[in-house]
Order: sequence, then C-alpha cells, then structure tokens
Amino acid sequence: MAFEPISLLQDTQTQNGRVTILTGAGISAESGIPTFRGPEGYWTVGSEVYHPQEMATVQMFRQRPFAVWEWYLYRLGVCSKASPNAGHLALVSLEQQLKNRFTLITQNVDGLHLRAGSSPERTFQIHGNVSFMRCARECRSAIYPVPETLHRQIKTDKWTDDIANLLKCPNCGGMTRPHVLWFDESYNEEFFRYTSSLIVAEKTDLLIIVGTSGATNLPNQIADTVFRRKKPIIDINIEKNSFSMLAEKSPGGGFMQGPSAVILPDLLTFQ
Ligand code: APR
Repeated sequence: MAFEPISLLQDTQTQNGRVTILTGAGISAESGIPTFRGPEGYWTVGSEVYHPQEMATVQMFRQRPFAVWEWYLYRLGVCSKASPNAGHLALVSLEQQLKNRFTLITQNVDGLHLRAGSSPERTFQIHGNVSFMRCARECRSAIYPVPETLHRQIKTDKWTDDIANLLKCPNCGGMTRPHVLWFDESYNEEFFRYTSSLIVAEKTDLLIIVGTSGATNLPNQIADTVFRRKKPIIDINIEKNSFSMLAEKSPGGGFMQGPSAVILPDLLTFQ
C-alpha cells in the first residue's frame, strides 16, 4: 500500500475516523526551545553541578529544592519567551475541523500547544506544564500558575526570600514544586491523563507522531496500541528512529522527513 499521507488524512476524515496527534520536543524546536537529546538540549547542558536527568527528580528536589526550582524557572523563562510556530498552529486548525474526533497528546511541558490555541480539554499534557506548580507536601492536588514575575528568570538568578514567598502553597504555606512528571515518578490520570491516553489509543484510526525520539513509556504504549490495532501511523521527524520504523510497518502509514513547522502545514492545508 503506497504511502499517501494527504489522502490518508482525508479518508480518515470522510470516514468520521479519530485522529490522534502525539508530539515531543521536536515540534517546539523551531520555536527556539532546545530538545532534550539534541546537541543543545537540556540533557547536554547540565547545570553547573548536576545533569538534567538528576535535576528532574523527587530525590533531588528533596535534597536541593532551590537548585531544582532555579533550573525550572530558567526553563520557564526560555518557554515564556518562545512563540508557537506553524506546526502548533496547523494542529489548532485540524482540531477545529475534527472537534471531538481529535486528541492531542503532548510530552512537552512548554505550554506552546495551549498558547497556540489547542483546547485544554483535548490536549493531554502527559508530562505536565512548567507554567504551573502544586504543593510539594501534597496538602491538596490543586495546581496553581507560577507567578508571572518569575517568568523572566535567567540562569544566573539566585534564590531569594522574594522568590521563596512567591512559590508558597496558597493553602498550607509550604513550598510548591513544578507541575511536571519527574523521572522517579509515575504517570497518573489526575495530573497526566494516563488512562485517558490509553483509552484514546484504543479508539484511534490514524496516529500522527511529531518530533519525538520515543524515549518514554506512555508514548511507546500509545504507538504500540495503534500498531497492534492495525491502524496507520504517520511519523514526522528530521531523522529516522523507532517510531518512523513502526510507522512504515503500519498499514498505509509512513515516515515524513523534515521539520514539523514545514511538514504539518503542508500536510494539513489540503484538509
Ligand atoms: N521537526 C521535527 N522533529 C524534530 C525537529 C523538528 N524541527 N527538531 C528535532 N526533532 C526531533 C529529533 O530528531 C528527536 O527525535 O525531535 C525529537 C526530540 O527528541 P527528544 O529531545 O528526546 O525529546 P522528546 O522525544 O520529546 O523527549 C521525551 O523525555 O526527557 C523526557 O520528559 C522528557 O518530554 C520529554 C521526553
């Protein structure tokens, strides 16, 4: 079966099929946000003492909460200065056409999909969002926006009492933590839409994977579920990886090589 992505998407729409999008850091690369495993990614730019994968843990937060917050406020500063690109916007227009037959599952914590106009109810931020925080003592499961004044931090900014006061839990006064999934934590439904994501995968008629290296658990479960159900997968990436190979083996699916900010608008313009 030849790989015809545009007609594949059109057929899915005419047959009232469900389209699920799974995005990773690659979709935000053209907005100037470093990917995790790229040459300038957070993984390779460890802070002066630790590497990122040690920073993004409950263990490190317990030992050095201020260092972890300083690192996240720096990342929040980078994300706040970035703007959604044509790839994010193309997905907004697809959602407007498909409505409840569309779901966007993102690993990105930069919030760019929501800022582009993707709807909160159909956007599953399965790794959280750096613009939000919650009580580190879990006195309540509420999430709060990180105060705007902290969105302009730069790497050298050091911890101050003013920052500490702005990062207090409004309910118990204890310290908050970033509302993101850490490496020594598990997915759940309440914060990360874990169960919802697996339910959507079981109902997906076409999965479009954009800009992810496939290094994490839930995205692999989603792709494997769609593949097992013999549904087509399209992988969009600047280079091949395990997802592109899965896409090429899926019926009617395939790999589209190139930057997502170029490929997504082209793919979705014909819809
Ligand atoms: N267009 C499309 N794809 C791109 C682009 C681009 N312009 N630039 C980079 N990519 C691809 C890279 O080839 C790579 O496959 O995006 C992917 C980025 O991979 P990672 O940096 O590993 O990011 P991601 O897959 O989102 O990481 C998943 O792992 O570290 C954890 O929680 C973190 O959410 C993150 C998760």
